[in-house]
Amino acid sequence: MSHDRAQAAATRAVMLTEGDLNVSQRRSSWAADHIGDETRELLELDARYFLRQSLSTPCLNVLRGSKGVHIEDWEGRSILDFHGNAVHQVGYGHPSVIAAVVRQLEKLPFCPRRYTNEQAIALARKLSELSPGRLSKVLFAPGGALAMGMALKLARMATGRFKTISMWDSFHGASLDTISIGGEALFRQDIGPLLPGTQQVPPPNPAGCPFNCGHACSLKCADYVEYVLEKEGDIGAVIAETARSTPFFPPREYWQKVRAACDRHGALLILDEIPHALGRTGRFFTCEHYDLEPDMLVIGKGLGGGIFPLAALIVREELDVAGDRALGHYTHEKSPVACAAALATIRVIEQEGLLEHVRSLGTWTLERLRTMQTRHPVIGHIEGMGLMIGVRIEAGAQSSELAEDTMYRALAAGLNFKLTMGSTIQLMPALTLTRDQMQNALDILEQAIAASERA
Ligand SMILES: Cc1ncc(COP(=O)(O)O)c(C=O)c1O
Repeated sequence: MSHDRAQAAATRAVMLTEGDLNVSQRRSSWAADHIGDETRELLELDARYFLRQSLSTPCLNVLRGSKGVHIEDWEGRSILDFHGNAVHQVGYGHPSVIAAVVRQLEKLPFCPRRYTNEQAIALARKLSELSPGRLSKVLFAPGGALAMGMALKLARMATGRFKTISMWDSFHGASLDTISIGGEALFRQDIGPLLPGTQQVPPPNPAGCPFNCGHACSLKCADYVEYVLEKEGDIGAVIAETARSTPFFPPREYWQKVRAACDRHGALLILDEIPHALGRTGRFFTCEHYDLEPDMLVIGKGLGGGIFPLAALIVREELDVAGDRALGHYTHEKSPVACAAALATIRVIEQEGLLEHVRSLGTWTLERLRTMQTRHPVIGHIEGMGLMIGVRIEAGAQSSELAEDTMYRALAAGLNFKLTMGSTIQLMPALTLTRDQMQNALDILEQAIAASERA
């Protein structure tokens, strides 16, 4: 293989970890069939003025609208959005969220530092009431990676230790500090020195487990966390996604062991629930499923109602130890508009009974998918909690090609989803999706899988 081809193959392998490829032959064929002249012109302008970067460019299509569970492209096609970058918990443009935002925009659109505002206080209070156990003090940031950065700084200040343990394959954001604790080569490779003192350990994912645990986690990975805590002796924090959106869900005992190990070795437990807090898994916070209380919890994405970038760090009161240091210091750290959007989002989740809806629709969907599996041998492992669901296409060496083919066929039929880890179809709809809409999506998915199998 020539160096260029070897490099391209390596790049493809790396890129397949986090999302689907946006430079593939199938992408070009889909575009040839579905992209009209006006859309093409806009895409060309986008490419002309934006810096290129992996996973984001070149863009697939141009959107002109979104409402509820749908996005609408420039040519007026309405598409069920099962991706949404995990911001669309209450759907796009929920009328209550829009109304709250508009009201706030007219009243107080920005709050300079040194001042506070009613919306920010109300949101901090609400999150403190909703959060499990002793989590009660809050800081906001205009993005998930920034909130993770605040957590890392606070962990150093509170423990006097700078070392961390985090997971291979994890993602905590794309900034330099968060890629240092992240575990995906796409973000870490060839970038130069990262933060010192970060150690990655194997995640509790039986797929590809280096401890060869087979189909069920043997908890050796949890024992290994304790092993590193003990060997190093001065780890300040263990950082992990409570559940990975790829998705996989650690067994309950995993978190019991890791929590106990952190306590024994004086390390803080920081949980990243940026993509799924506020209901995606059927509880406000995923750690509630595990009766697990972290020392710090980080949430983001859908917190801003799918409108504003907003993330939050929520910690135990005893960790309020850095009054004389800058943890965040972000210009938009108390945005009244973002906070109004978040408060309205939480109200919608409570008033529309979305947590219960997610639990029952999630269970129903998993049953349907398992029935679908009996008709389609390429459907392999299915895993889900609430409306965070993964369907792995397992067709040997053809798996990722078949998954990609399925994805573009489904898109052509009006269903948008993302691929992850090469061949896993990730289903993350708005939590307001009805059962009929889910059935419609599953019909599209099944027809696309069947057509890919035949092709
Ligand atoms: C688990 C996880 N953590 C952190 C982030 C980073 O959030 P943001 O893009 O808001 O910086 C993401 C974003 O996808 C995520 O999925």
